[in-house]
Amino acid sequence: MKIAMVGSGYVGLVSGACLADFGHEVVCIDKDPGKIERLNAGIMPIYEPGLAELVAGNVKAGRLSFTTSLAEGIDGASAIFIAVGTPSRRGDGHADLSFVYAVAEEIGQNLKGPAVIVTKSTVPVGTGDAVERILGEANLPFRFAVVSNPEFLREGAAIGDFKRPDRIVVGAEDEFGQQVMQDVYRPLFLNQAPLIFTSRRSSELIKYAANAFLATKITFINEIADLCEKVGGNVQDVARGIGLDNRIGSKFLHAGPGYGGSCFPKDTLALLKTAEDYDSPLRIVEAVAKVNESRKRAMGRKVIDALGGLDAARGKKVALLGLTFKPNTDDMRDAPAIAIAQALIDAGVTVSAYDPEGMDMAAPLMPGVEMATNVYAAIEGADAMALVTEWDAFRALDLDRIRTIARAAVLVDLRNVYRPDEVRAKGFTYTSIGRT
Ligand code: UDX
Repeated sequence: MKIAMVGSGYVGLVSGACLADFGHEVVCIDKDPGKIERLNAGIMPIYEPGLAELVAGNVKAGRLSFTTSLAEGIDGASAIFIAVGTPSRRGDGHADLSFVYAVAEEIGQNLKGPAVIVTKSTVPVGTGDAVERILGEANLPFRFAVVSNPEFLREGAAIGDFKRPDRIVVGAEDEFGQQVMQDVYRPLFLNQAPLIFTSRRSSELIKYAANAFLATKITFINEIADLCEKVGGNVQDVARGIGLDNRIGSKFLHAGPGYGGSCFPKDTLALLKTAEDYDSPLRIVEAVAKVNESRKRAMGRKVIDALGGLDAARGKKVALLGLTFKPNTDDMRDAPAIAIAQALIDAGVTVSAYDPEGMDMAAPLMPGVEMATNVYAAIEGADAMALVTEWDAFRALDLDRIRTIARAAVLVDLRNVYRPDEVRAKGFTYTSIGRT
């Protein structure tokens, strides 16, 4: 079947390439000519493991192509996915739907035959209804359906997540929509992925509820970590001890510097706005968003404490190891490193930094931070280093070498990558999260 993917960003590109890999004919559309030109030349707009190879293989096989023309791209497609961005609207935190609506209008103007229009972008409850109204205004002389099909892809693991999902959620209001989506995802049934059909509104809500729940889980363990530090507990033991209870589950219980990224911060805020609009407060999610926001800067203070407090910190140098919001991505959106660096700079600390993939994205977001060419160059002459993102490359640092090049052997491990006794045995002053 032919599938059109409108929006060749992170979600559109990964989904389009994976659907092509399953044998569908996929056209990825984007209005940015530079992006399409680069994609045609095999250059990816984002860093995602395995994506360049997947795209190249499917382009070569003739199943995947790129265009700037929506009219051309959707011609003959049975399913048209909308995978454009829904950023937080400046000022009020609502999801900005202008891109989604503009695409819906353009589809209405150019559609030539029956098709299912699928919202893949994360959109607030009721957006599917609005898209259906917009298409309705085009008075199309054939049938169409609007369905919701949220994505649950994790950056850095997106291809695996797409191909072996825990579940596929489809919010469809009629049989036509359900049937076409069955055909789209048929290749995945071999992997026994459950395909769940719900109403469109439920499907839209599932995405937000899932992300808010995961954000809550992380924030919960982060606060338990703080308590562990006060009472002398070990948060990793606590997480294991509670996670083995199947009702709780062991995932997303890694304490750290607070969640970042393109989804959790933006989606929790958008969900809170929906809750406000419908006068149905989500007090737990409100607390989660607030606690997480203040945690990022608090991590800066943790580093200052390791330097001996505010007075002692002034004029000292700290090396930040890892800047992206998590490893295996170059994404800096809402990364805790930004707030941590700012807190340090505000305290008169000089900050150097190194990240394996995120330097280009980080530099404009972190003015005043000295970007080093490698991890040891960042550490040179530092009075402390803070491990902010748990890249594999930081898991086996040469601690003996660091002791000779740093001014002081102080490690603040915000991801609990190292074993306290081992690092201390090497002569380091070591602090981590929720462990004493
Ligand atoms: C997330 C969801 O997992 C995905 O389903 C959704 O579609 C988009 O948002 P992503 O933003 O790529 O994916 O990252 P994820 O791996 O979920 O991590 C989010 C943040 O939480 C990161 O900053 C990460 O470091 C942090 N995190 C995650 C923790 O601090 N502890 C954990 O146990 C897990």
